[in-house]
Amino acid sequence: MDVFAKAFEWKEARVARLSGLYPFFKPISENEGTEVVIEGRRTIMVGANSYLSLSTHPKVKAAAAEAALRYGASCCGSRFANGTLEIHEELERRLAIFLKKESALCFTTGFTTNMGSIAALLGRHDIALVDRGDHACLMDGTQLTYADVLKYKHNDMADLEKKLQQADKDSGKLLITDGVFSMEGDLADLPGIVELKRKYGFRIMVDDAHGLGVMGHGGRGTGEHFGLHDEVDVITGTFSKSFGSIGGVVAGQREVVDWIKHRARSMIFAASMSPPTVAAALASLEIVENEPERRERLWQIAGKMRNAFQAMGFNTGVSVTPIIPILVGEQMKTFNLWKSLLEAGVFTNAVIPPAVEPGRSMLRTSYQAAHTDEQLDKVLDVFETIGKRLKIIERKRPATTQRITIALRQPEGLHSHLEGVMPHPLGNGHANGQANGKTPPRWTNWVELATTVSRPRITQLRERLDAAWSLAGWRPPGLPPLDLDQLQARGQATFERVRDAMEAVTYRAANIDPTDLREMPRKIIARARGRNGQAHD
Ligand SMILES: Cc1ncc(COP(=O)(O)O)c(C=O)c1O
Repeated sequence: MDVFAKAFEWKEARVARLSGLYPFFKPISENEGTEVVIEGRRTIMVGANSYLSLSTHPKVKAAAAEAALRYGASCCGSRFANGTLEIHEELERRLAIFLKKESALCFTTGFTTNMGSIAALLGRHDIALVDRGDHACLMDGTQLTYADVLKYKHNDMADLEKKLQQADKDSGKLLITDGVFSMEGDLADLPGIVELKRKYGFRIMVDDAHGLGVMGHGGRGTGEHFGLHDEVDVITGTFSKSFGSIGGVVAGQREVVDWIKHRARSMIFAASMSPPTVAAALASLEIVENEPERRERLWQIAGKMRNAFQAMGFNTGVSVTPIIPILVGEQMKTFNLWKSLLEAGVFTNAVIPPAVEPGRSMLRTSYQAAHTDEQLDKVLDVFETIGKRLKIIERKRPATTQRITIALRQPEGLHSHLEGVMPHPLGNGHANGQANGKTPPRWTNWVELATTVSRPRITQLRERLDAAWSLAGWRPPGLPPLDLDQLQARGQATFERVRDAMEAVTYRAANIDPTDLREMPRKIIARARGRNGQAHD
């Protein structure tokens, strides 16, 4: 039997090309970052991972060009041998400082960083705990080892705990997860993972390919976002997204990084990052550190787009980041939507199985700090028109009225909750209960607000709230509730975290921008003052 027979017999790609619906390997002739030219047509790019728009930044392009002139186009060798330049080491020193880890090591791509690091860290008697939604390179890394691989359901902490209970207590364990999941734009449940780490003892490796530069106050990633940066033992990342270049990094304790440096075959037996890519990553790092306004604009855009898509009735899944999927379901419908959008001047990425589960085909959209409101509004207009034409969304914006309740908190703060879907966790009769010796917020008044929430959003909301409630160990009425003492015993920190999660859900549900939400209680108080002559207290 000819080993090539499978290739000669495989027809799907040829059929798809002939149908004109083949969405992959589209050559781009000009690239300005937020706009590209494809097949002669100027197109708004909402498919790239250049979150901070640095790949086309003048300083980044100039740094790459200068490095090519100074060092040549390639080192033509491995880091291990002749392929280490001073700028490779400078980049590693600066990244270790940025990532607040003892040491950092660069690879030629993010893919080989993860593959090589995982293979170096895991031995025959070790166990890899991997999220089923992890990126291909994490999965492939585990396949290169003799370690046992235990896959837990995506972000399912109960399933992870079950796996931990079944695992040999004495084995070395490495939990490997994406920080930001690359297809659906949701986050690893790091708080839940860290709770289990404290209980069972294992190391955590976070691939923050889509988190670096994007998540956290300083752009250090998902760990920083959750205030758990120090709990992440090994961070990996790529320069092919926010950093606008090519290459990857692993950072952690000095000895661990040094071990990887001398064991990772994908680094030792591959040519090093080329000089222009190193210089571009260095220039980008400088901008990531010094221009937080880029990150702020990116988040503003992400909020705008997600709210607008949801208001139109598109299903944006579980996204909470600048990666916003448009879930379509059926593969052909997804290809049709992709093609119609491209013809109308909007480039998206079609994502089909096996990259996602069967029946969950989608268009993946992602945003950049340099997208203008004009470009974004055009994207939204085109999506709405074509979405209606292809019957992916209803002609009339599907909407229903949902009561949103803003709870006024004494003495200083205010928090919002969704009544009906989400009752107050402390219940009306327990507003003054003690938790861990601290007085919990006194919820004294409720102001109601009618708002419009799209129907698919409510379903998503309920799913999310279920997840949030299971974190709290408390469920709304209708399900067996845990009593207040138990909630308090789990500590104020858990309660605060759940409340924050709910707050996030609330503003998304209401299609309200987070900054507007923060303003809203003040406006409501002012309105109430005007009406009653006094504030609620
Ligand atoms: C989560 C994740 N990890 C790793 C990679 C690989 O990074 P690179 O493109 O640098 O090889 C990607 C890129 O697609 C990714 O999305």
